[in-house]
Amino acid sequence: MEKEIKTIGVLTSGGDAPGMNAAIRAVVRTAIAKGIKVKGIKKGYQGLLNEEIIDMAPKSVSDIIQRGGTILGTARCMEFMTLEGQQQGAEVCKKHGIDGMVVIGGDGSYRGAQKLARLGINTVGVPGTIDLDIACSEYTIGFDTAVNTAMNAIDKVKDTSSSHERCSVIEVMGRNAGYIALWCGVANGAEDILIPEKYDYNEQNIINNIIENRKRGKTHHIIINAEGIGHSTSMARRIEAATGIETRATILGYMQRGGSPTCKDRYYASMMGAYAVDILLQGKSNRVVAFKKGEFVDYDIEEALNMHKDINEYQYNTARLL
Ligand code: ADP
Ligand code: F6P
Repeated sequence: MEKEIKTIGVLTSGGDAPGMNAAIRAVVRTAIAKGIKVKGIKKGYQGLLNEEIIDMAPKSVSDIIQRGGTILGTARCMEFMTLEGQQQGAEVCKKHGIDGMVVIGGDGSYRGAQKLARLGINTVGVPGTIDLDIACSEYTIGFDTAVNTAMNAIDKVKDTSSSHERCSVIEVMGRNAGYIALWCGVANGAEDILIPEKYDYNEQNIINNIIENRKRGKTHHIIINAEGIGHSTSMARRIEAATGIETRATILGYMQRGGSPTCKDRYYASMMGAYAVDILLQGKSNRVVAFKKGEFVDYDIEEALNMHKDINEYQYNTARLL
């Protein structure tokens, strides 16, 4: 049974990710092409509560597909975690005639979308996070750009590390997820990869590894450390004290969240934005868009939030072997 959607709202929430603009553009242009009005909500759920709402036209999203960040801005909003905040959000939607909402963000943002759906606003989530930690999807907007940005930066650190025959601890983003560290660990040929899902906190193993490699004539030793493990500076100090090898820490930080999105992020984000509009128009609500086995699909939000994604054992073991 198709629901008649007249106006779709779009917001970005949680950590920004390169490619979010491509998704916003696709939402706006797909909806308008199908005769639906679009409103952009600034600064995530906070902007919804503050009624920072703007009319979107095809031209509002011109010349943004190549830009990092999100033109709508993003925020984390504690008020929206409360029932009062959520009810106020649903009221604001109704007041502005928003009967469908596309929420681009991570699983925290999905929880917010689920609450809006329960209060009668048709919602669809789109996976926007550099961390790749959305269990129902093999792709998340921004991961491809972030790993390429980190990989290029790590190549540069590796050059200077080799020249000085130093050891380097390089920290990449990922508070709960080690995907960026794992992918860069392979792509940058790191000697050690530390990820929150697997690390046993046995620093002596790393120290032994460094000493062994030095004996074998290796001039550098790159340790990719995920943010979830952190403490890269003190780790570097301890490694230097134990091995006698000069060791430096580099924390890549927010540079990984910015920059022009890769072709993959522009393309997939565009498809996901369009898909989100299409399923809203089919009468679906409380869904999230995902990429699975080569196709764009959608899941119930509750089902998606209950899914679990593990680091692939074979890939992790292979990464360590290489
Ligand atoms: P991400 O979407 O990247 O996972 P967060 O976990 O910070 O980022 O969530 C983004 C925002 O989504 C939060 O600031 C809050 O406004 C909203 N949110 C998160 N969890 C909930 C929840 N359980 N109920 C309602 N809103 C939530
Ligand atoms: O979720 C993306 C991410 O960059 C994580 O890797 C990181 O832990 C977190 O966001 C940092 O968020 P904030 O913007 O709150 O510092």
